[in-house]
Amino acid sequence: MLAIGSDHGGYELKQAVMKHLAERGVEYRDYGTYSPESCDYPDYGEAVGRAVASGECERGIVICGTGIGISMAANKVRGVRCALCGDCYSAQMSREHNDANVLALGARVLGEGLALKIVDTYLDTAFAGGRHARRVAKIMAIEDKA
Ligand code: RB5
Repeated sequence: MLAIGSDHGGYELKQAVMKHLAERGVEYRDYGTYSPESCDYPDYGEAVGRAVASGECERGIVICGTGIGISMAANKVRGVRCALCGDCYSAQMSREHNDANVLALGARVLGEGLALKIVDTYLDTAFAGGRHARRVAKIMAIEDKA
């Protein structure tokens, strides 16, 4: 199960991403927002972050205008490793090297075609493990000390 959420700035792209996920047969749960009305991105970054951190969902996608605010909010939730990606290479590396469990997209930055390619790359790439597992564990240890 994949968690997805956006603010109003990401609402339209989220609709396109959900359609794409459905076409790919990926099950998802939409944590809002449910209309293009103005709202606050931290609420949706936190909701998706909590869904992933609790194990309710394995991975998540968050979208706002730039992807910046909502990724900051998701990363405040313990256990979340949210990567803001504007290209496919970063999306691939976010999985292989960082084991990113949430992908953030900027709807006002990316065209829909590129955004969907980034989503595909993110979903289709596995964590490489090995030395990267040690580094990811160090990231999580920083969080534990906080
Ligand atoms: C909303 O106007 C905008 O600030 C938000 O979508 C996002 O870009 C914040 O980082």
